[in-house]
Amino acid sequence: MSGNQLEETPRIDLDNPPARILGIESSCDETAAAVVENGREILSNAVASQVDLHAQFGGIFPEVASRQHILSIYPIVDQALKDAHLKLSDLDGIAVTRGPGLPGSLVVGINMAKGLAIGSGLPLLGINHLEGHLYSAWLEEEGKKKKKTPKFPLLALIVSGGHTELILMKEHLVYERLGGTLDDAAGEAFDKVARLLELGYPGGPAIQEAATDGDPNAFDFPRSWLEDSFNFSFSGLKTAVLRKVQQLEKQKSKLPKKNLAASFQAAAVDVLFQKTLRAAEEFGTKDILIAGGVSANQALRGKFKGQRKYSVHIPPLFLCTDNAAMIAGAGCYRFHAGQRDSFEMDAAPTWAISDL
Ligand code: KG4
Ligand code: ZN
Repeated sequence: MSGNQLEETPRIDLDNPPARILGIESSCDETAAAVVENGREILSNAVASQVDLHAQFGGIFPEVASRQHILSIYPIVDQALKDAHLKLSDLDGIAVTRGPGLPGSLVVGINMAKGLAIGSGLPLLGINHLEGHLYSAWLEEEGKKKKKTPKFPLLALIVSGGHTELILMKEHLVYERLGGTLDDAAGEAFDKVARLLELGYPGGPAIQEAATDGDPNAFDFPRSWLEDSFNFSFSGLKTAVLRKVQQLEKQKSKLPKKNLAASFQAAAVDVLFQKTLRAAEEFGTKDILIAGGVSANQALRGKFKGQRKYSVHIPPLFLCTDNAAMIAGAGCYRFHAGQRDSFEMDAAPTWAISDL
């Protein structure tokens, strides 16, 4: 009898939580919706980027961002459902980025999700954007060879426009924050230096491109190690680039933009790489996960892929920057863990991963 009962108990595969979730993301300058199954399989992934809109301001203009989200959100959700060939009634839940992010932008996605949840009777799940970035590493690319599944405990580095976080992920949904930036986020430093060098917006890809033909050793920019802590600081590096530019301009020299970009990128990547490895060493993890917009950087990817000691998980480029597949993916795990949010749920613009 007991043997039969045991056999009848469904076995849950924690790496494939059984759920089909619609994810919605509007925390910054991308309006996105996606459907993900079992935390891994992307059934659709629609993204409307506002990059061109904000390029004229050289950065994100919050009021413009929220207005554009309002215009894009309905067509993007519609597209995600159509691309997945699904109706709301085929889904198990609606996950939406609750924070961190721009308040006026978050509210647009949250209200859309609430409306859909109320109309369909599906549960609503508010997802932390940084947790979403982490879960992008579990998503599979259609038609590609199956990826290695990240193994716990793992050391995670989230590097985006708003965040630089070192996290020890002990198991699914369990995090210990080891450190983060004390000033600028890594992506913010790329964006600010690109503006300084007049390379355009967004700065990360612009710096990367300029650095391709530059000499990373042309300028010896400072690396902030902050001794034994797992915190980061990028403002000194940014100021060092500014001082060098001012000095060269004073000498009426033509700015060696490619060398400046390459030397800045080398310094930023060096600190991110070394500190992550040191944390992995100290906490004895065998796996490292990198996510967030800056993880699209080829120099950073190359450094991590070039070492043999750790098993490294980096999302494909289209999942590094903001998307809704990562929110739907995290939503599958949260749904499976029993999370259900009320319709009173509000945006959480400063929600830290340490509060999860
Ligand atoms: O994750 P994300 O799309 O948005 C936030 O959550 O902030 O990250 C955007 C950031 C921007 O600062 C952008 O300049 C940076 O990621 N980024 C890059 C690259 N692609 C995007 N930074 C360095 N190299 C890149 N290739
Ligand atoms: Zn992000």
